[in-house]
Amino acid sequence: VDLKSANSFGLSLKADFYCRPSTTDELEQAYAFAKSEALDVLILGGGSNVLFSSPEYQGLVVHLNLKGTDAQQDGDYIRVTASASENWDDFVHQCMGLSAYGLENLSLIPGTVGASPVQNIGAYGVEVSDYIESVQCFDPDSGQQKVIRNEECRFGYRDSIFKHEAKCLVITSVTFRLPTEANLRVGYGDVKQRLDALLADSNLSSATPQMVSDVISQLRSEKLPDPKLLGNAGSFFKNPIVSSEKYNELKIKYSDLVAYPYGADFKLAAGWMIDQLGFKGKTIGGVAVHDKQALVLVNKTGEATSDELFELVDLIYREVKRRYGVELSIEPVVV
Ligand code: EPU
Repeated sequence: VDLKSANSFGLSLKADFYCRPSTTDELEQAYAFAKSEALDVLILGGGSNVLFSSPEYQGLVVHLNLKGTDAQQDGDYIRVTASASENWDDFVHQCMGLSAYGLENLSLIPGTVGASPVQNIGAYGVEVSDYIESVQCFDPDSGQQKVIRNEECRFGYRDSIFKHEAKCLVITSVTFRLPTEANLRVGYGDVKQRLDALLADSNLSSATPQMVSDVISQLRSEKLPDPKLLGNAGSFFKNPIVSSEKYNELKIKYSDLVAYPYGADFKLAAGWMIDQLGFKGKTIGGVAVHDKQALVLVNKTGEATSDELFELVDLIYREVKRRYGVELSIEPVVV
């Protein structure tokens, strides 16, 4: 099989063995098979944040298909557990339908529920770690199920234990604890302005979670390419975090530098730096820098290869380092 359509960037991957388990029992059987045949295993979720470093895989690709959600009231909260392969945006809408709030700002993020803790998805002032209670995993080494509580996940900006020590665990479901009373966060970017405009046209006195979700979905679809139409993996680079000294030094040189305070440090808008270097639209083979948002790389022809992709990544990395003295790191997971 070619897994081109199973990853949102649309890189080709031919695997020797492939399976699509839809229960944890089937997942265990897949591992048992791999063990008996001495095969390496590659776990594939929604494929929206993964890149393949090579077009061939001499092992077993386990393409998860774990579905289902369960919700229970807990005082002023609703505890919702969703299986890993549930579509993220559908899940956000399902929660709003249950009057379980908090995830509105994460509307329209591509991918699955199971991928959300790995890179601690975040947008418009909210990170998924704000609402995750625990992550349920299968540990292939021990063959046991494990529950990892929020505080053990070591969530950071686009980071978690699932990118490091817990890389080998397979996330099977995620449990969220969501308040039934909305606490809308609309302070980020142009969200507030858009909401005010919507409110002016309505007879409501304050915004609803659904309105926040609508506005954010609208903002995202204006800047970010739809992976179904143009292959991409969302923001390709992380916004680098620098000290206040480094920030001040850059701000003197570049007065229009875009940055956000981040604790005592500053988070620089990598998209701004890449844009300033004139990279929008820059193409190498089938890969290009998106013309509306420089932080996103796209599979322009649908035939992009990982070699072309990493050539462009290297070029951007070197130029950003040369001009700004800042080292970018990439956001998607490379396997
Ligand atoms: N900018 C430019 N040119 C560009 C892109 C950005 O000048 O081509 C400047 C603009 O001034 C803009 C600022 O950079 O105001 C920030 O851009 P934007 O609001 O689009 O956000 P971002 O920092 O590029 C981050 C997240 C996104 C998230 C948005 C909104 C990361 C790596 N990315 O992007 O997350 O949706 O903020 O909260 O933190 C993702 O992770 O896949 C993702 C899309």
